[in-house]
Amino acid sequence: MSQPADYNPTPHVIPEGENATPLEVVGGDCTATEKLIIIMCGLPATGKTHIANRIARYISFFLAVESKLLNVGDYRRSLFGVISPSDFFTHASSNQRELACDAALGELTDFMKQDGVRVGILDSTNCTRERRTRIREAVAFLKCKVLVIETVCDNEELIEHNIRTIKMNTPGYRNVDREEAYKDVKKRRENYMDIYETVDERDGSYIKIINFQTFIVHNARGYLPQKVVHFVMNLHTLPRVFYLTRHGQSDYNLLGKIGGDSGLTDAGRKFARRLADFAHNHVGMKVEKDEETGEEKRTPQPARLWTSTLRRTKETAQYIKHTKIPAFKWDNGDEVEWIQFQGRARRNLDELYAGVCDGLTYKEIEEKYPEEFARRQEDKLTYRYPRGESYMDVTLRLEPIILDIERTREPILIVGHQGIHRLLYAYFMGLPREQAPYVNIPLNTVIELTPLAYGCTEKRYLLLSKEEMMCDGQDEPVTSMPVKHQEAAESARQQSTPDVHAWDVMNPPSF
Ligand code: F6P
Repeated sequence: MSQPADYNPTPHVIPEGENATPLEVVGGDCTATEKLIIIMCGLPATGKTHIANRIARYISFFLAVESKLLNVGDYRRSLFGVISPSDFFTHASSNQRELACDAALGELTDFMKQDGVRVGILDSTNCTRERRTRIREAVAFLKCKVLVIETVCDNEELIEHNIRTIKMNTPGYRNVDREEAYKDVKKRRENYMDIYETVDERDGSYIKIINFQTFIVHNARGYLPQKVVHFVMNLHTLPRVFYLTRHGQSDYNLLGKIGGDSGLTDAGRKFARRLADFAHNHVGMKVEKDEETGEEKRTPQPARLWTSTLRRTKETAQYIKHTKIPAFKWDNGDEVEWIQFQGRARRNLDELYAGVCDGLTYKEIEEKYPEEFARRQEDKLTYRYPRGESYMDVTLRLEPIILDIERTREPILIVGHQGIHRLLYAYFMGLPREQAPYVNIPLNTVIELTPLAYGCTEKRYLLLSKEEMMCDGQDEPVTSMPVKHQEAAESARQQSTPDVHAWDVMNPPSF
């Protein structure tokens, strides 16, 4: 039987109504129904604050659930001064510590009382069962789920690392002499050890994280606790960096068209060659200084390479070599042979799909679909292109990528797209989701991100200058920036004050 001329089968029937959305979008209808309070527990320098921060970020960005992190140390500093010597952490000062805890608890309670599903996290050592029971009793009237997360660390190397790279950079130690700070943290740990009581069934639901290797989960039921369990099992506090770069200039970029699956222009290939140089000399190269001679020692190190499945990202990665480097041992003892930059093309990293607008310029979209264009201006985050995607949809498919980035220990170079990198960047930099669609992710630039316990640091490397690029066709037309969102865009720009380095191919700098 012949089909009518306008026959156009689609995978599902699009409901009627103004730009009706056929799929449930992340954040549109939250699956969680119960409020959750997380009580952190653990000796200083076991990674609590790092975990608490990451959970709060994940929950608000991916699950669209409001979250609040209350750090008892912040209340202590505001009540009793910025620097508290380790003596403060002895039994003698326990009253003052309880006062700081009560202040944080008061705010936690006020937050949890509000309507709607929410997650409150109380970040403190909470070392004794008495303290944990007191907290539990104080919040009992709220009828929320309570989950204790205990961090246990008996690996001296990890403790040393946590003290030197995390703890000593926390607000209480920022302006203190490094050795003094180190000794103080050690002393604090000893003081707490005297009174420490590990978590067990009497604490109710809990997750015990031992050296970020062994996880004991007890009675953690429900949507949010399960999400938290899965998330924390992917975390670690080891130092690592990852790199975001867009593909080199594509034919579509040059024409100002969005989407498509075009290849690279000459300028795009030039960028691809520089990127290979950057990958080999920076991302995949461990640079250490010999303490005695002061000379630089450069050793190739394991590194990963991810692209999307689209032609422009694969072509951008084409000059990066996949070299076998000597076998090394994982921390679980397994010996592996590593192929540096073995490429992995991931569909989840494909650019936001513009549906019927794919292949058009912004100007053409405005002329052909003026109503759609105006709707996108209104709300760029939730707007979904007809038969295409919204930033919210893309957020949903990026969740597994985020979990992979969180758990990976080697540097990862991600060759992706503007829309995708905006979301990855916003998540790690702690920007609200509304600001994500406006983050500036220029072509020809590699963004180096280093997640830390208190946020994430950023460096940008410019691999091709604007002059070398001539016209890059990437300047977003003013009309694509809705007036009411210009403020959000400006604030996204201001929050990101990147440190930009020019990358000189002939003479790569060592940073
Ligand atoms: O123009 C390049 C591009 O990657 C397009 O393929 C994509 O549609 C667009 O950027 C995403 O940016 P925006 O959401 O600002 O339109």
